[in-house]
Amino acid sequence: MALVKTDIEIEKIRKSSLLVGETIAEVARHLRPGITTLELDRIAYEFIRDHGALPAFKDYHGYPATLCISVNDVVVHGIPGKYELKDGDLVSVDCGTIINGYYGDSAFSFGIGEMKQEVIDLMTRTKESLYKGIDIAVAGKRVGDIGYEVQSYVEGYGYSVVRDLVGHGLGSSLHEKPEVPNYGKRGTGPKLEENMVICIEPMINLGKRGITQDRDGWTIRTIDQKPSAHFEHAIAIRKDKADLLSSFDAIEQVINHNILIIK
Ligand code: MF3
Ligand code: CO
Repeated sequence: MALVKTDIEIEKIRKSSLLVGETIAEVARHLRPGITTLELDRIAYEFIRDHGALPAFKDYHGYPATLCISVNDVVVHGIPGKYELKDGDLVSVDCGTIINGYYGDSAFSFGIGEMKQEVIDLMTRTKESLYKGIDIAVAGKRVGDIGYEVQSYVEGYGYSVVRDLVGHGLGSSLHEKPEVPNYGKRGTGPKLEENMVICIEPMINLGKRGITQDRDGWTIRTIDQKPSAHFEHAIAIRKDKADLLSSFDAIEQVINHNILIIK
């Protein structure tokens, strides 16, 4: 598979990625204390199906659900289940779709009810770090420039960057080259070329960077049990400014008095 996409392919990835944003917004409308993560997964599944698309994560290497819902110390790949959301939870919702063979992928972190200020700050800085990465991601820069921007921004607040999981290329499969770490050195790594499509997805921990995987083979947690936030956009590389293929607009327009949406 080619790293550089045609304009037609990019529009297909955009269509799929925009549906991901709409799906996460639909989930956001239903977020409240007491709802189970499995109920949210069903809402997402039906929404995606009703829009003529397929969930990209379901059956991916055996993954059992439509969404990854990662609460508090779960960094990513939380499997929806019986857990009921409660006041103070940091909830990352990660979603992928397939339309006509092209993938969309995006993630957003929400707060449920009353949140601790340190957790709100973690979410805010993590989202900002995603845009720091996007701002540097233009043709001629390198993957390490993205990692450097994300890492230096969040480490300035005393947070740490998860190393074991990274962003990725996106296209007619969910994970393509190049890998896009959220840490790195300026001027290193693969060069970004016009019409490459990548996902940038900082996973930022309030405490130490170490993680562990649950025995379910999926759930990734912080080793110190402190919270972790996660935001993800799919972008196409251009000459002057990255082209956002996914969008948080629909999510940021949701009014729900039970949840905090970082704008
Ligand atoms: N956005 C995540 C990623 O790019 C989601 C993959 S979850 C999986 O890795 F379940 F599909 F593996
Ligand atoms: Co991804």
